[in-house]
Amino acid sequence: MGNIRLFAAGRVCALALVLLSAACLPATALGYEVLSPSPGGKETVKARRSSSHLVIRAADKAEAANLEVGRVINRDGDTKTVAPVGTYEKDGAVYVHYVLDLKKGRNIYALNPGEKELVIRYQPLRTLLKLDPDDPDAYLFHRTDVVPSACALCHDEKLPGDANLDVETLRKNADFSPVCYSCHRRLTSGNKWLHGPAAAVACMTCHRKGDSGRKITTLTGRVDETCFSCHINRSRWMKKSFIHGPVATGDCTVCHDPHGADFPFMLWADPKMDICIACHTNKKGLKRKKSGFVEHGILAGQGCSACHSPHATNHRFQLAAPVNEVCASCHVSMKGISSGHPVGKHPLYLPVDPRRKDREFTCASCHNPHGAKYKNLLIGSVLGGHVCSKCHN
Ligand code: HEC
Ligand code: HEC
Ligand code: HEC
Ligand code: HEC
Ligand code: HEC
Ligand code: HEC
Ligand code: HEC
Ligand code: HEC
Ligand code: HEC
Ligand code: HEC
Repeated sequence: MGNIRLFAAGRVCALALVLLSAACLPATALGYEVLSPSPGGKETVKARRSSSHLVIRAADKAEAANLEVGRVINRDGDTKTVAPVGTYEKDGAVYVHYVLDLKKGRNIYALNPGEKELVIRYQPLRTLLKLDPDDPDAYLFHRTDVVPSACALCHDEKLPGDANLDVETLRKNADFSPVCYSCHRRLTSGNKWLHGPAAAVACMTCHRKGDSGRKITTLTGRVDETCFSCHINRSRWMKKSFIHGPVATGDCTVCHDPHGADFPFMLWADPKMDICIACHTNKKGLKRKKSGFVEHGILAGQGCSACHSPHATNHRFQLAAPVNEVCASCHVSMKGISSGHPVGKHPLYLPVDPRRKDREFTCASCHNPHGAKYKNLLIGSVLGGHVCSKCHN
């Protein structure tokens, strides 16, 4: 823990975004140099991953040992030390690598000695595909070079010794891209669920080198086309009558990480509910255990996909089957029944719900499948017939 005062009077760099220009450095020149993120310019890190690599070149071992990077945690300029993830030497110079965890908005780091200031503005994106690769305000590492020469000194086709990959087999794949692995191994190691082609370091099946042959781009056009090129039989989703919003727009990666993730199917959040309520925010309340709220047991079990398809279906509301069939698939005593519940000859299916004219009359007309204030997930209390009077006088 350091305790460093940062905002000395007269600093002009406070407004800059990613900025480490000579303008805000103290007069004494220092030997070390920030190689990435690139200094200067008004740039913002727009990314889905909330981290960024900081690579500093120190003139020698002594200088590297003295380097201190701290995250500024309050207005007083107190800092929390960031430990390097690796320190490597080449031709006398020492390259110190850090991983900076970014928060939305301004992130300020203090580099010492010299009280240099590194300001990174982070704008989270749900998907990189929403990023214009030519956006002049966005910081992109590979904008001009696939591997800048300062990095190519060490980052070449050679895999790190502990990579534990079957290189013999991988080399047979034309897209095997070992140079990517040496910097991006975090994408494909340490995740509980890995995606086949990324784990095989076939990065260039999905990534392209831009027109210049130098900068790297993610896919252009729709990402689903790339996914379907291997997952051929899933392309039938696009022929169904109800295609889920983000699937219809081809944005597979808003839910799936194409490299790997800690949740099954490489989803970036818990598939039970979290992945869904990230967008369907009006369903967030279903996660909070409120007293007096009757939960539908299945939400804590299988979650939303017990009833909804995340991709596409032939039924309204992305349901796996017509409403009553979905319900009866678990509540088996109701299977095939078209009337007789909850009373006498009560119908269980009609084309129109008298209470909600835009919907069919189904189990969901009286029960809220997501949970309700009343026992048995009912839309009203059975006491005093309140539930009945929602539709009957
Ligand atoms: C199956 C296709 C596919 C493969 C294989 C793949 N990528 Fe990606 N990658 C993508 C897509 C699509 C994105 C954009 C994701 C988004 O933000 O929606 C992306 C984004 C990235 C990013 C930006 C950070 C992030 O996670 O969003 C990095 C870095 C990256 N890929 C590196 C690699 C490396 C290195 C490999 C090989 C080990 C690789 N990719 C293999 C499809 C792929
Ligand atoms: C002196 C050699 C050397 C130089 C020069 C060098 N690196 Fe590295 N870098 C390494 C080594 C060794 C690793 C560890 C590789 C591994 O174990 O996967 C590494 C790892 C990385 C990683 C992954 C770190 C992690 O844990 O997530 C990134 C990103 C990276 N380097 C970026 C860069 C960039 C950008 C440059 C140029 C500005 C650069 N490196 C220059 C040697 C070097
Ligand atoms: C010298 C290290 C290094 C090598 C080699 C490297 N990358 Fe990167 N890459 C980075 C760094 C650093 C970033 C910025 C994100 C960060 O700081 O973690 C990045 C970002 C990306 C991004 C996000 C868009 C961008 O330009 O910032 C993609 C996509 C990507 N890399 C793909 C690849 C692919 C594919 C390869 C292999 C052809 C590759 N990278 C090789 C260091 C490297
Ligand atoms: C180069 C071929 C290839 C591409 C392109 C590709 N995948 Fe895959 N994918 C695979 C392979 C191989 C597996 C592993 C096979 C398996 O376990 O069924 C897999 C598995 C998966 C799985 C897990 C399936 C399961 O049943 O466990 C998901 C989810 C997935 N891919 C999504 C995607 C998405 C999203 C994209 C587009 C961004 C994509 N894939 C692009 C080859 C590919
Ligand atoms: C709204 C989030 C979301 C989007 C968008 C999405 N998926 Fe999925 N995907 C899931 C979930 C959740 C699962 C887990 C399986 C389940 O519960 O049905 C899954 C499972 C999968 C599987 C394995 C099981 C299966 O059903 O075949 C594949 C392959 C897959 N997705 C590919 C894709 C592709 C390709 C796209 C883009 C066309 C895509 N996904 C878009 C959420 C999504
Ligand atoms: C990336 C944002 C996003 C994620 C994540 C997402 N959805 Fe959606 N969802 C949409 C959009 C956009 C629509 C279409 C617009 C609309 O009708 O609200 C939609 C529509 C729906 C509908 C139909 C609504 C209607 O009125 O017809 C259902 C049901 C649904 N989503 C369920 C889910 C489930 C279940 C998950 C989790 C597996 C999920 N969504 C994850 C964006 C998302
Ligand atoms: C037990 C089955 C079931 C589960 C589990 C379920 N739903 Fe639904 N959902 C339905 C049914 C049935 C409808 C149609 C309701 C109707 O006709 O009133 C629906 C409708 C919807 C709609 C569109 C109309 C509305 O009420 O907003 C969205 C969005 C939706 N569900 C999202 C979710 C999300 C997100 C989850 C997980 C938190 C989830 N559902 C869990 C059965 C379910
Ligand atoms: C994937 C299985 C599944 C589906 C589909 C399903 N349910 Fe359930 N349902 C459950 C489980 C599990 C419980 C909790 C049972 C318990 O706690 O004993 C439950 C509880 C209920 C209850 C409360 C009564 C009780 O026994 O506690 C009602 C009412 C109900 N469900 C109605 C519906 C309706 C209406 C639908 C269709 C929209 C539906 N369910 C779809 C699994 C399911
Ligand atoms: C006309 C309104 C209405 C419709 C439509 C309806 N229910 Fe019910 N349901 C009720 C009422 C009211 C109760 C509570 C009965 C009681 O307290 O005696 C109930 C109770 C239940 C219960 C819990 C008690 C039990 O019998 O196990 C389940 C499960 C259930 N309904 C499932 C369904 C399913 C599945 C459908 C569609 C096939 C459906 N309901 C359609 C009104 C309805
Ligand atoms: C969501 C709306 C809705 C709710 C709630 C509802 N009903 Fe109905 N009910 C209907 C519809 C629609 C019909 C068929 C058309 C009609 O007869 O009005 C019906 C028909 C009936 C019938 C005539 C069945 C026959 O013999 O043909 C009775 C009796 C009845 N309801 C009693 C009840 C009772 C008791 C409750 C409360 C436990 C209740 N309903 C709750 C919509 C509802």
